[in-house]
Amino acid sequence: MRFFVDTANLKEIEEAADLGILDGVTTNPSLMAKEGIKGAANIKQHYKDICSIVSGDVSAEVFSTKYEDIIKEGEELASLANNIVVKVPMIKDGVKAIRYFSENNIDTNCTLVFSAGQAILAETAGATYVSPFIGRIDDISWDGMKLIEQIANIYERQAGFTEILAASIRNPLHIVKAFELGADVVTCPLKSILGLLNHPLTDIGLAKFLADAKKTEA
Ligand code: E4P
Repeated sequence: MRFFVDTANLKEIEEAADLGILDGVTTNPSLMAKEGIKGAANIKQHYKDICSIVSGDVSAEVFSTKYEDIIKEGEELASLANNIVVKVPMIKDGVKAIRYFSENNIDTNCTLVFSAGQAILAETAGATYVSPFIGRIDDISWDGMKLIEQIANIYERQAGFTEILAASIRNPLHIVKAFELGADVVTCPLKSILGLLNHPLTDIGLAKFLADAKKTEA
C-alpha cells in the first residue's frame, strides 16, 4: 500500500512528507492552475521544487494531445528529475506515446481512465500506472469502486506490471475501499489521508489513559 498526495501545493506536499508515509505526488493542469503557476519555465521549476521535497514518483501531466508533441513534452518533463513520471491522457495518441515512453525507459501514469477497456489499453501499452478516477465516477452516480475491483481482477490474470493508482479519491472511506479492492496506490488530498486517523474510541481511550497517567504521578 502506498500513498501519493494529489496536489501541486508545496506546503501540503511538505506536510504530507513530514508525516513519514508519503510515497509520491500527482498533479494535473487544474491543480497547477490553482497554485497560480503560469508559463512553461515556471511549471518546470515547480516540478523541480516538488521533486526536491519528495524522492518518490512525481506525476507531471503533459498538456499536449498530439503524439509528437506528447513525446517532446514528456521527454522534457522526464529530464527535470529522475523521479518524474509522465502523466498521459487516455486518448489514441496518448496510448501510442505510452508505448514509446515504455520502450525508452520513461515511467508513465495513464490518466483519465473511466473503464476497464481503457485500463486494458494502458496496461498493454506498458503504462507504469493506470489512474481510474473514482470520485468522478461516483459523481455521476456510478460506482467507482466497482471499476477498481474489475481492473484488479483483470490485471491479476495478466503478466503485466502496470500498477493501479486509485485517483480522484475524495474521502477516507474511498482510501480503505480502494486498497481493499486491489489498488496498489491511492492519490488524494492530505485531508483524506489525515481523516484515516479519526476514531472516537481512540479519543476516549487516550483521554482515559492520560487521566490515569496523572494518577501515577508522584
Ligand atoms: C489524479 O491523478 C487526478 O489528479 C485527481 O485525482 C483528480 O481528482 P478530482 O476528480 O478530485 O479532481
